[in-house]
Amino acid sequence: MKPVVLLLGATSDMGRAVARAYAAQGHPLHLAARDAARLALDAEDLRLRSGVDVWTHPFDVLAEDAASIMTGLAPPPSIVICFVGMMGTDPQLIMRTNYTGPAMVLEAAADFLQRQGGGVLVGVSSVAGDRGRAGNYVYGSAKAGLTAYLSGLRARLHGSKVRVVTVKPGFVHTRMTEGMDLPKALTAQPDEVARAIMEALEQGRDVVYVRPVWRLIMTIIRLLPEPVFKRLRI
Ligand SMILES: NC(=O)c1ccc[n+]([C@@H]2O[C@H](COP(=O)([O-])OP(=O)(O)OC[C@H]3O[C@@H](n4cnc5c(N)ncnc54)[C@H](OP(=O)(O)O)[C@@H]3O)[C@@H](O)[C@H]2O)c1
Repeated sequence: MKPVVLLLGATSDMGRAVARAYAAQGHPLHLAARDAARLALDAEDLRLRSGVDVWTHPFDVLAEDAASIMTGLAPPPSIVICFVGMMGTDPQLIMRTNYTGPAMVLEAAADFLQRQGGGVLVGVSSVAGDRGRAGNYVYGSAKAGLTAYLSGLRARLHGSKVRVVTVKPGFVHTRMTEGMDLPKALTAQPDEVARAIMEALEQGRDVVYVRPVWRLIMTIIRLLPEPVFKRLRI
């Protein structure tokens, strides 16, 4: 049997694209998300199109017992990918949804994979976490926390059979960015994110910028001295 994949935040546009791509390759899937009705429709579509087994699970990353998603999954997953995140106006919600929530669940997933003897853990973070910018520093700081968490976890698990991958998508056309005027050359489609994630797993990469140009852009932005950076208001 192909490795079983668990998608956390499976109703996200990126998550749905990844689900389709893994299902097309015959991987059984566990889909976890808050919207049970939407999840059920997606699961049925995946079963019909690809003939794979798909199981659905209610999952809210802000729930006290969110990490309990990692108990009792049968068959057990060996690839776990977390897409959960949000933008918005409530700073506390943004921080909890993009950082503390996912980090606590990924911690449980890492323990689960270690006990199981191996696997891959993927966290979807953001280039916004590479430097706090005037326009979105609350979201950016939460993603910075997630990026740092994933980096530390990767170092802790180095030498074990559990790999940790950080994905920084850059701009992507999804529900989250609907209505935003995004530069075409810098904006990926969800299917492109899916391909990038699957390739990264095959190639054993640690940190993935979906469009490589983002690595260069963020390197330049990180190198700008603070007195210059604060005046740019980018
Ligand atoms: N789009 C971009 O340009 C971009 C760029 C960089 C990084 N990202 C990151 O990529 C990831 C996927 O985002 P997307 O662009 O595909 O947008 P999306 O479709 O809005 O996906 C975000 C997902 O997070 C889920 N979520 C939010 N709060 C949750 C909670 N309390 N518990 C469980 N799930 C929760 C949402 O669930 P519901 O379906 O129930 O609403 C949704 O499925 C996010 O982490 C986002 O921050 C996006």
